[in-house]
Amino acid sequence: VAQNMPKDEGFDRTLSVLKEGYGFIMNRREALNTDVFETRIMGEKAICLTGSEAAELFYDDTRFRRRDAAPARVKKTLFGEGGIQTLDQEAHRNRKAMFMSLMDDEAMDEIGMLVHQYWHLYFKEAESLETVSLYEAAKVVFLQVACKWTGVPLDESETESLATQISDLYESPAALGIQHWKGRRSRSKLDSWIEGLVEDVREGRIEVDQGKALYTFSWHRDEKGSLLDKETAAVEILNLIRPMNAVSVWVAMIGLALHEFPEEKGKLKGADDIELEWFIQEVRRYYPFFPFAAARTDTDFEWQGYFFEAGTLTLLDLYGTNRHPSDWVEPDTFMPERFRGWHQTPFNFIPQGGGSYDFGHRCAGEFVTIVMMRTTLDFLVNDLEYDVPEQDFSFEFNDIPAVPNDKVKINNFRFL
Ligand code: HEM
Repeated sequence: VAQNMPKDEGFDRTLSVLKEGYGFIMNRREALNTDVFETRIMGEKAICLTGSEAAELFYDDTRFRRRDAAPARVKKTLFGEGGIQTLDQEAHRNRKAMFMSLMDDEAMDEIGMLVHQYWHLYFKEAESLETVSLYEAAKVVFLQVACKWTGVPLDESETESLATQISDLYESPAALGIQHWKGRRSRSKLDSWIEGLVEDVREGRIEVDQGKALYTFSWHRDEKGSLLDKETAAVEILNLIRPMNAVSVWVAMIGLALHEFPEEKGKLKGADDIELEWFIQEVRRYYPFFPFAAARTDTDFEWQGYFFEAGTLTLLDLYGTNRHPSDWVEPDTFMPERFRGWHQTPFNFIPQGGGSYDFGHRCAGEFVTIVMMRTTLDFLVNDLEYDVPEQDFSFEFNDIPAVPNDKVKINNFRFL
């Protein structure tokens, strides 16, 4: 007979989610001593999961679905409507194959080269500036990289304002008031911009290299053999450009880590790709970014003696799984060398989701992210010298995504 699931007793917890942010599930895992508990969020019953075992359950697509899991405020800003995040089964596999077909070694080399080239250019042109925010700079650099790689034409005079509009999409889903509405407005502007380009490609008004995402997504055929409507094609092209721009959040955290852990920075001088990668893996593990993934149970079932009712909203704690004491030694210590000879499973390290790239919802851009971060780290440590002025490096655990308050400022930069 199934037991009752541990309960986070009390009223609706929407306000606690907003107040505790990244810590919401972790605080209750500790207080209730469980990886599975029931609560109420946004007026409905919700199940919260954490840790690699529960992650494996969450990514079982015979038990969970996505089509009605994402809150409207997230679809209106971050995801867009009709995108891959809300698809299941055949439709999801077809769409995911469209994304994964882009992610080969050649693409990773090209992205690494572009990131290096645009960081150089940025700091060459910034020579006259006193101070640069690494977070804001990375938004601009990565928009240029993303547009080059996807084949989307970018007008130099619009680069900065577009970079800001794109960041509105990921700075607004959890925000209230003006910030949230700014996100919605930027979503509709950006959707129209890319829809126009999809039409231009289809009507032969612009030339795009056939290997570029703008071309392949514009001509992609779904599982029924139809072209995507232009709105959906645009949402998916933005599902490349937006998160590439969002890697800027982790650039801010790289800047913070280099500042907080100078002895680790010292080890990176002239380091090879493997050591650079340990450091950025630890940045992705240690600092918060994407708090939870959301799904809904698709059938009634029992797991570890607990009953799961069909249709229940379920949140998987991404941040807390990366700090779960069953999977990580000294989880609260920043220790890049933990990744030496480390044993990865599809479920124990999930800053960008877990499970399978091709058959599940794991982030299509995880390798892109790693290349972008590794190249940026190498640039900051081995190509550039800079000072770090007095500033506020703290960040809030309920600010999603969390970025240090002064956006990581540097000055007196010079090339090595
Ligand atoms: C999905 C995080 C960068 C493209 C996801 C998911 C997370 C995530 C948590 C959802 C996992 C789930 O629902 O189970 C991140 C973070 C990034 C990042 C923190 C760092 C900035 C990227 C990049 C790209 C990308 C650079 C593209 C080049 C996607 C796509 C999906 C996705 C297309 C949807 C996959 C699906 O539903 O099957 N990402 N991501 N992401 N990500 Fe990323």
